[in-house]
This record gives sequence, C-alpha cells and structure tokens, in this order.
Amino acid sequence: MLDRIITILLFFCLFENAYGQKITYYEHVAPIIHNKCASCHRPGEAGPFSLLTYSDVVKRVSFIKDVVTSGFMPPWKPDNHYRAFANDRSLTAEEKKTIISWIDNKAPEGNDKQEKTSGDTFIEGTQYTRKPDLTLKVNKPFEVKGDNEERFIVFKIPFDIATAKNVAAMEFVSSNKKIIHHANFAIHPVADNIDINQAADYVNLTDDSRVNYDQYLPFKKEMTYYGGWIPGTSYESYPADLGWIMPKRGVILLTIHYAPLGKDENDISGINLFFKDTPIKRVVNVVSLGSGGVGESSIDPYFMIQADSVKKFNLKILTPQDQSLLYIWPHMHLLGKSFKSYAVTSTGDTIKLISIPDWDFRWQEIYRFNKLIKVPKGSVLTIEGVYDNTKNNPNNPNNPPKMIFSANDMKSTDEMLTMILVFLKYEGGDENKHLDILELLKK
Ligand code: HEC
Repeated sequence: MLDRIITILLFFCLFENAYGQKITYYEHVAPIIHNKCASCHRPGEAGPFSLLTYSDVVKRVSFIKDVVTSGFMPPWKPDNHYRAFANDRSLTAEEKKTIISWIDNKAPEGNDKQEKTSGDTFIEGTQYTRKPDLTLKVNKPFEVKGDNEERFIVFKIPFDIATAKNVAAMEFVSSNKKIIHHANFAIHPVADNIDINQAADYVNLTDDSRVNYDQYLPFKKEMTYYGGWIPGTSYESYPADLGWIMPKRGVILLTIHYAPLGKDENDISGINLFFKDTPIKRVVNVVSLGSGGVGESSIDPYFMIQADSVKKFNLKILTPQDQSLLYIWPHMHLLGKSFKSYAVTSTGDTIKLISIPDWDFRWQEIYRFNKLIKVPKGSVLTIEGVYDNTKNNPNNPNNPPKMIFSANDMKSTDEMLTMILVFLKYEGGDENKHLDILELLKK
C-alpha cells in the first residue's frame, strides 16, 4: 500500500510542477530556454545550434537532459555561494527540475503556441536588449591565414560623430568570433589638428616589424575607455547616471589575438555602442591588474610555472581611494585551475569578490555584481591563481609539460594572472545600488 502511495506521489512529482500543472513546452520550458540558453544558441552566436523553437529543442532532448543534469550547460563557473552575480546564467534547482521532468514526460508541446518568454526578444548581431546606436568596425574583412600561427593584429578604426555621446552599454562584435582568442580596444579622443585617417588600417604585430606600431602613437595621447572580449563574454552596461562619454572624434585601436587556424578565414570586428540621453554624472573607470597591467612585477612568487608542477601565485594591491565596483573580469589561460579574489579592509574585514573553483578557459565572462561593492581606501585587494602544469591537466598545451611564463603578447600557450575591474569613485549609498539590468530597463 505504502509502495503504491509512493509510486503515485513520484508520478505526480515527475509529471507536474510545483503548482500541480502538467509541464508543457510553451507554458513552462520555453521561458527557461529563452532566458538561459538562447542568448548563445541562436544564429551568429557561440552555440553550435539554435534553441529558439519547439522543434529545435525537441529533437535534442536527450542531449539537453545530459548537459543540464551534468551542469555543463549553461556554462557558469563562479561559486555563487562565495559571490553571486547579476548576469548569472545558471539554472535554479527548480528550473533544472522543470526541464528534466518535461523531458522524462516525453516533452509535450502544449496547446498555447504563443511562446511565453521574459518579454524581450533577441536582436541579431547583439547580446544587448536593443539595436546598437552606433557600430564602429574595420572597413574591410581581414584575411587570417590558415598556417597554424597565432596572430596579433592592431586595427585602427577612426570615428567622427556629430557630438559626444553618453554611453549606456557597449559590446565587442565580430563576424567570426570562433577564430578569436581575445580582443582589447582602447578608445582615444584625438585633437582636431591630427588627421585620424593617417597611418595604415592595421599593424600586423606577428609578421611585420613592431616599429610599424609607432605610426599610431599620435592617437594615443589620451584614452577615454578600455574594453575587451574573451570567449563567453557578453556586454558591459552602466545603470542610471553611470557611464562614460564617447568622444566626438578619435580613433579606436582594436587589438585582436587570432587563434591558430588550419584553414584561411576572414573576420570583420568592431564595437557596438548604445547611448542614453540622460546625463552621466559619474564616470566609470577600468583598471587591469596583474599580467600586462598594474602590479605585474609584484606577482608572488615570480610568475613562472615549472613543468610537472601545480603552483599558486598571488598579487596584493593597495586600494588608493574608496571605490565602488561594477564588474569583475578574471583571466587566466589553459593551465588555470582556480581563481579567487577578495579585499581585506584596514579593519580586517574580508570582502569576497569572486571564486572560480574549477577554471575553464572556454567560459569566461565580465561578471556584473548584483549591487555596487564598496572597497574602502587602504584595503588590500588580493588575487590568487592556481595553475596545473602537469599532464593530469587535460587542457595542458604541452605534452610533456614544459616551463611556462608570461611574455610579450602572451599567446594562449603562455600564462596570465590578470583581473580587470570596472569601478567608480565611491559615493555614500553606493552599496545599496542594484546593477540588475532588467530593473534598469524598467526605469
Ligand atoms: C554562454 C553561451 C551558452 C549558453 C548560455 C548555453 N550554451 Fe549550450 N553550448 C554553447 C557552446 C559554445 C557549445 C559548444 C560547446 C563545446 O563544443 O564544447 C554548447 C553546446 C551545447 C550542447 C551540445 C553539447 C555537446 O556535448 O556537444 C547542448 C545540448 C547545449 N549546449 C544545450 C544548452 C542548453 C539546454 C542551454 C541552457 C540551459 C545552453 N546550452 C546554454 C554555448 C552556450
């Protein structure tokens, strides 16, 4: 008897959701797939196939069950107990259960063909919630040779827009993201007496003399903003009266690190900008810490990873003023095993920033805090990175392992311990300011 009751209860658990309704695609599953999967699984994005319609999803249910159960999809690496983020794309336990129960119940479509989504639909060519106001990109496709060489190219993108604009969000765009290892861009305002169209369209740092790069020096007197992209990254957005101002005239110097390719490919890259009419009262800044940035020489011990070793490094940096953090962006390469960052205030309090216990080079992100995080002046910001340079690391590019350090352009087979912070000078009450993008859009 008891057995039967349990079987019946189990039956209900599997076939119904918490509200006792039958789980159907349109009613229950589509909104989850839309919010947590389709940003990548749609045309032009990173996912290998689309998950936009019932038929896209239903033909892959056993595959989907596997990746959802194992946690492989959606990719989300930070430990949410250490610090949770506003752009978290992981599934809640409830969402996981809904998807799995639906699949176990033969994935019924349901009657209501009207797809229920969060209300926003995707726009091709952007991860953001609306069309860009301005796209600045290279003017012709760049041919990347398929000779298995990594390449570093600096593109010059001149711009002259009628007036300076208040930036609400920005993102990197490319016609061929899968061949890009990473990208960085600096936005330089340029004085009227300097010709922004002078100098070559690009400088090839890998094949040509590095002296060529000097032709861009006239553009580099000032810098408005510095951004970047690594696989998995979406966009950066700034709420309310926060942001930065896109200068009227200048040059973007966009450095792209192309992955080694077995066949010729081409690429057109640039940035999308989203403007707002409301004033920007507080300007957002960026700082890059560690390899290639501030404090590089203070990484302890000296940044060198002997073959067959698992090694931990740390970097401690004093916070020079009261700051409020918006975004945090950890970066390591293939030997990375775990990454952690926290700040210890002068009174001994620890502010947890991020922990990625199981680093995966493929899935990186600019993590947006739920609320602005105050880091008081005098706090010691600590970054810890652990690297596995043994043959037990399946991502180790060298077999047998060899000594690795960080050098010049830092190829993917070199290593980095880097953390980029997007921050503001602190103002009273910042710690209560939410950074949730949906909330911002409603305002
Ligand atoms: C951040 C982007 C992103 C998100 C979000 C995402 N995926 Fe993926 N997904 C990918 C990429 C890229 C691959 C290819 C990965 C690879 O080949 O290693 C992939 C692969 C897959 C695969 C094939 C796995 C395999 O072994 O080949 C399935 C199934 C899948 N995703 C389902 C989902 C589902 C379901 C969701 C939401 C619950 C989701 N994905 C969310 C980017 C994403």
